[in-house]
Amino acid sequence: MRPKSFSFWFTIRRLPTILRSPLAYIIEMAQKEEAIINLGSGIIPVYLVNHPDAANQVLVTEAKKFYRGSAINSLRDFLGNGLLTSNGEQWQRQRQLVQPAFRSHAISQYARAMDVQITRYMSQWEQFLTTGSLKELNMTQDMLILAQNNILAALFDIHHHPEAQVLHNALETIQHTIISISLWEAVGTGFGTIFGKKTGNALYDLLASKQKKTYEEAKTTIQKYIRSLIAARKIDLLERHDNNRMDLFSQLIRAQQEGKMSEQQLEDEAITLFVAGFDTTGHTLSWLWYLLSRHPDIQENIRSELRTLPHDADAATLAKSSLPYLEATIHEVLRLYPVAWLSLRSPIEKVQIAGYDLPEKASLVITPYTLHRLPSYWPDPEKFDPTRFLNRDTPDVTGAYLPFSAGPHTCIGKRLALLEMKMIVARVIQKYRVEDGNHKASKPKAMITLAAHPNVHVKVSAYT
Ligand code: HEM
Repeated sequence: MRPKSFSFWFTIRRLPTILRSPLAYIIEMAQKEEAIINLGSGIIPVYLVNHPDAANQVLVTEAKKFYRGSAINSLRDFLGNGLLTSNGEQWQRQRQLVQPAFRSHAISQYARAMDVQITRYMSQWEQFLTTGSLKELNMTQDMLILAQNNILAALFDIHHHPEAQVLHNALETIQHTIISISLWEAVGTGFGTIFGKKTGNALYDLLASKQKKTYEEAKTTIQKYIRSLIAARKIDLLERHDNNRMDLFSQLIRAQQEGKMSEQQLEDEAITLFVAGFDTTGHTLSWLWYLLSRHPDIQENIRSELRTLPHDADAATLAKSSLPYLEATIHEVLRLYPVAWLSLRSPIEKVQIAGYDLPEKASLVITPYTLHRLPSYWPDPEKFDPTRFLNRDTPDVTGAYLPFSAGPHTCIGKRLALLEMKMIVARVIQKYRVEDGNHKASKPKAMITLAAHPNVHVKVSAYT
């Protein structure tokens, strides 16, 4: 059976929505309650995988039949061929090289480094509160910068990082541009299919050219930063013979020196780990504070649970303590706002998924955003209710839960991210009450990650 196609005019009528918000378009299409839904009206072979079993087939049980296709080319332009964008043997080799740094015993070592960053960040609150100058905090910005500092401390052994704001701004520009360029490209290709390739390319060039300049500048900012880190660390490792550095970044540099990867591969891997490591966690934390600031009862439940811990618990104690309610809250935030909202795959050859025949090279879109809202799996799906995750194993993709994806490409940083978020929430809630400071409700804005728009603002006050 072929997925149902829609008329050309059906898509044309929806172009304003597609260009304004690809997520809104996907949500609308997901209402059709079919396992595979045609998103491209036959012009572009793009399908939404709209059932957990079908997603499981693509990501897990038949993962070998799929690769990351051309739909992520614009991301590849930025990240090169790092873990998040590569395929096949190259991906497998790199994953094996990087994986040991994400095993549980390695992760627990990162707790101390991150805790230093968290404490440093929170000491600013203390200062502001003492001087009475703490009005409102932009938690979207703050969490992205804190997450940046954490990933550099944990994986790169870099503990002082004055460039955080500049890099944050550059990444935001890149995200805006990649999403809009991809959309213009899709529209251009669509027109190219109807009116000829030349028209499509001309239209794409016209629409995307202005944005490309800003994008290139932002990309250069991040690339230069990563290159400067690589150069400085090479001096430490190779000229100063600093053999004590065991962090992942230093290990990658050693692997490159031993001929296990090229200089370009090293740079791609470092940019990927840096960007994937902070942008996702930062945005999840931003949503977390958005929800907690609007649910004082849930905040209070977390605080009660934290009373089981000593106030001055060190990082290692905090990292290994079991805090089921807090952990359930983080899972529930990730259910409602799965910031890595898009996994893209393409079949290597013709394939059948959930009974539907799909052509080779078609783009398959899997989004936890819609799967996490299926009422048959998640009753009253819009309700923020951490108890959904209490007293049960965390469901996997077949239970319609996949914030970290599933199968061979499951997020390598999942454990690190969960630990980091647990530590930040615990440290804050032990001392502070967080209240809603937004003037307007935040809505998800689908860039490469799912950002809160407008940014999340909160007011904080210390418990006496
Ligand atoms: C809340 C935080 C995070 C979320 C929601 C998240 C989500 C995801 C998802 C959904 C994927 C799969 C993408 C795909 O299907 O193609 C992924 C892959 C990946 N993530 Fe994360 N991630 C998070 C944190 C992190 C952290 C802290 C790191 C640390 C470096 C990281 C590094 C990566 C890498 C390298 C991949 C590619 C894995 C591969 O294909 O082998 N992520 N992540």
